[in-house]
Amino acid sequence: MARAPRIVVLPGDGIGPEIVAAARRLLEALGEFELDERSIGGASIDAHGVALTGEILDACRASDAVLLGAVGGPRWDTTTPDAPRPEQGLLGLRKGMGLYANLRPVRPSPALVASSPLREERIAGTDLLVVRELTGGIYFGDSGRAGDTAHDTCEYSEGEIERIASTAFEAARRRAESSGRAARVTSVDKANVLETSRLWREVVSRVAPDYPDVELEHLLVDNAAMQLVSRPADFDVIVTENLFGDILSDEAAMLTGSLGMLPSASLGAKGEPGLFEPVHGSAPDIAGQGIANPLATFLSAAMMLRHGFDRPGDAARVEAAVDAVLERGLRTPDLLRGTLAPPPLAGNPVPEVEVGTEEMTDAVLAALFA
Ligand code: IPM
Ligand code: MG
Repeated sequence: MARAPRIVVLPGDGIGPEIVAAARRLLEALGEFELDERSIGGASIDAHGVALTGEILDACRASDAVLLGAVGGPRWDTTTPDAPRPEQGLLGLRKGMGLYANLRPVRPSPALVASSPLREERIAGTDLLVVRELTGGIYFGDSGRAGDTAHDTCEYSEGEIERIASTAFEAARRRAESSGRAARVTSVDKANVLETSRLWREVVSRVAPDYPDVELEHLLVDNAAMQLVSRPADFDVIVTENLFGDILSDEAAMLTGSLGMLPSASLGAKGEPGLFEPVHGSAPDIAGQGIANPLATFLSAAMMLRHGFDRPGDAARVEAAVDAVLERGLRTPDLLRGTLAPPPLAGNPVPEVEVGTEEMTDAVLAALFA
């Protein structure tokens, strides 16, 4: 038998350790994995003085995949330019591992449609994928302060845009093959103002003819933000630059009822290890209480199984188990109706049962082997 896949596990800060511990239980139930737990973010600043050490980055590069919880928290929040910040760990990992393609699928679980702050009829049928460019743009351009002024530079090269455009077109093609829907890529930019966006639009349009089966449309980011809540079901694949993707994916997450539901995969060159993490943050306000929602991390583990280990069957099993526990009404506090959404509609058949991280994990494991 081939050796067990080696996963570097980076719990990070806040609720990170709780949700990652839950995901470890899930992985251990699914098979043989060698799990190597290391620190990142605030935890790493406390232990090593920096948010990511070279040694841990090397371990990640040498792994088969990386599973991450979340980084950041008020303890390390500072506006002092030279102080270490937890987020540097995550950004350093993305850059250091060459993870330029961030995939964030948004598919509301049928049981949660009523939990979204948006009306049911608006989000019904939503099934979209945000493809976010992850190692370029304003996140990684020159930045600094001089006197009373600060700057952040946004830069993109044709090569950076080309490769993420190809990722998006290919993802659209694959999605169409399995869903039977027409493939469409919506490229989001701010080409009416920004030069980097005009280059983005040019290059995406140039790649498009290689994918004649995929329809391409361009949207300005402000308009896209509006369309995303007014007609989310019309989107298929959204491809956009780093900062726009950060903002739009949080917005899109709310279509699923909670930011606590959204998984992500960050991928680099073929054959290189990917990074799998929930889209939500470290939620320091609820850390340590045992109530964090582990489902986005489970769904990220499912993406790891699919994209990292070519085990689509196991990935689908995890996704089905998550849907099943939600169907039965199990809810961590973030998913309860009334917190974000209007009170239950008359006649809604499933009563909600409030659970914590551990009960939710037990239920998913039970559903997995039911
Ligand atoms: C995300 C997060 C990160 C980002 C932060 C924590 C640096 O918001 O993954 O979306 O901005 O990319
Ligand atoms: Mg974000």
